[in-house]
Formats: sequence, structure tokens, C-alpha cells
Amino acid sequence: MYHLKHNFSLKSNNTFGISANAKHYLTVDSPEDLILFFRENNPEKNEERLFLGAGSNLLFVTDFNGIIIRPEIVGIDLISEDNDVAVVEAGAGVVWDHFVDWCVERGFGGVENLSLIPGNVGAVPVQNIGAYGVEAESVVAEVKGIDLDILECKSFNHSECQFGYRTSLFKAVLKERFMVTSVIFNLTKQPEFHLEYGALKTEVLKLGKINLRNIRKAVILIRESKLPDPSKVGNAGSFFKNPIVPEAIGNVLKNNYPDMPVYHAGAGLVKIAAGWLIEKAGWKGKSVGNSAVHDKQALVIINKEGATGKEIFKLSEMVVKDVLKKFNIALEREVLVIGNQQASFGEPK
Ligand code: EPU
Repeated sequence: MYHLKHNFSLKSNNTFGISANAKHYLTVDSPEDLILFFRENNPEKNEERLFLGAGSNLLFVTDFNGIIIRPEIVGIDLISEDNDVAVVEAGAGVVWDHFVDWCVERGFGGVENLSLIPGNVGAVPVQNIGAYGVEAESVVAEVKGIDLDILECKSFNHSECQFGYRTSLFKAVLKERFMVTSVIFNLTKQPEFHLEYGALKTEVLKLGKINLRNIRKAVILIRESKLPDPSKVGNAGSFFKNPIVPEAIGNVLKNNYPDMPVYHAGAGLVKIAAGWLIEKAGWKGKSVGNSAVHDKQALVIINKEGATGKEIFKLSEMVVKDVLKKFNIALEREVLVIGNQQASFGEPK
């Protein structure tokens, strides 16, 4: 089935809790219904599209003057299983953390470090979500969806997805063209635990044995202690990406700021903790109007109450400007900004 609504309020469809309207808002509960909608209604080819999951990585700075498509395709199916691997398919509309819980309860490893990340399964390969030393790409085997330009079902195997840090083929070349309808995951029944990140191992050991359930619990405890719960305080998780810079630049900064967190990021590159840069630029816990930089994790911007998308964007601009001034590093937004807002000094590269 499909449902089309017009001039639809998005306030409860974005975790920032921003008031904005969509010109058209379509929900579908199967891939076939999406194709049916396009065949029956023939929407304008050049109409702007946005695929929406839980709205946990979006900032609306204006109304959306196009069609928002929300796949409400649910269901988790065990496709095959042997002694080592479980192959599981989950619909794009499945809440990600329900999927993680489902896997952990069955002893299927690979996603436990990604517990409590807000969002739905459909966004997982698009954004290549990651946390606590694990990226979604390590478990995604295949991504199924619909190419809306030709109205055909298509699927991409792991190597075709072009995964990168918080990006993929679906976020780049196929943006607004290919809508994910389900994802096939390869999970392991002989889990290798990833506990190297920060204090994760210590937190797990406090709970008892190292196993999937305790890792999930520890990740949830750590996240809850640092990150605001979007059902209580509007936010979209990390607002910025951790910048990746040439090693030489990283070394110079590290000489000047020995406590700066720096991680290897492939040949000749290092990743710098944006939260640290923002904190050192003096922004942690600071408010501008109704928006603020979170006081426990400076990478997160919050809607204190009743903030507009423009206000939040403005605050993010001020943060980018000050980090650039202090460290000569241009932060990039991880959150997708929707609207015609132009940064007053240009989008950072
Ligand atoms: N830090 C500060 N001040 C801050 C925040 C962080 O000094 O205000 C320092 C921390 O002390 C630590 C380092 O920066 O040394 C990294 O901080 P943290 O472990 O909190 O992780 P992060 O790099 O800030 C990334 C992800 C998060 C994910 C965590 C844990 C990005 C953009 N963000 O944050 O993902 O939960 O690692 O793996 O990669 C998200 O994408 O929405 C998200 C929350």
C-alpha cells in the first residue's frame, strides 16, 4: 500500500524536532508499491526527492518543496545459517536498534557496537554508520532497492557499495535516485569482539563476561552518558564529521596540542576528533538562542526548545568559523542540511 499526503508537518519526523512542512509526503510498505505509485501518478521527473528514515541525521532549514518518500518496509528474516555465519535480511523501515537487539539475542555478532544509534535500517548503508570501532560496512553483504529513474529493483553487493567514512554510493552518485528497500547482513556466530575503542572494554568488564549482550549494554550506557536522548532533547547525533587531514598537518597540530586525539585513517592520513576541536575553540555547552553545543559531547548540537533550523545552522556556522580560525581545519557537517540556506562564508571543503 502507499499513502500520499500534502503539506505534511515534519516536526515529529526529524529528531531535531524542527517545524517544517513537506509539499508531498509518501509512505510505502513494499518495494512494489513504490513502483506502483510512480507508475500511477507519474510525478514530475525533476521534482526534488528525499528519502526519509527516522529523520535522525537531517536539519530542515526551510520547508521541503518536493516529495519525501518514507519506506515503511518492515520484517527481519533469517535467510541462511551455518556454524559460522547467519545471513539476515531486514526491511528499510526496521528501527536499527531493534535489529541490533534481535541479532544480539540470537547470538549473531557484528552489530553490537552499533547499539542505540538512532535511525532505521534503510539509512545504515547510505550513511555507513559507525561507532566504537565498527562501521556498518563490515557486516553489509548486499543492499536492495529501487532505481527511481528507471523504476526497477536493483541490488548492490558489498564491493559495489563504495563505502567510505559516513558515505557510500547511495549518498553520492545515486543520491535521491536509488531508494534502499532492504539490507542483507552477514553476521558471525563466532564473534570477534571489538573492544579497543576508548573505555569500552573497561565498561564491559564492569558488567561481567565479554559477550554480545554485555557489549550491547556497555555501549548503551556509554552513549546514554554522553549523548542526549532525541526523544527528550532534539538533536541529530554528531553534527560534524571528524576531519581527515594529511599526517603532516596532524603532526604539526599534535606538536602544538599534545593532548589532541588523533587516529590513523589510512595511508598518510589522520582523523582528528572534531569534538575536541570544538571544545578547545570554546564552544562546548555554549548556547545561541534556542540552540546549543551539547555540554557532554561538543560534536552534538541540540535544540534546547523551539529552535528553528536556521538558528541551529547559524550556530553550526559560528562553530565552523571559530575552529577554522583556531586550527585552520574546516569542519564538514555530517548532518544533511535540507533547504536553500547558504553559509555566509561558503560551505567548508
Ligand atoms: N572529545 C573531547 N570533547 C568533546 C567530545 C570528544 O575532547 O566534547 C574527545 C574525547 O575525549 C575523545 C575523542 O574526542 O578522546 C573522541 O570522542 P568520542 O569517543 O566521544 O567519539 P567521537 O569521535 O566524538 C564518533 C562518532 C559518534 C560515535 C563515537 C563513538 C563521528 C562523527 N562520530 O564520535 O557517532 O558514537 O565516535 O564511536 O564519527 C554519530 O555519528 O551521530 C555519532 C554519535
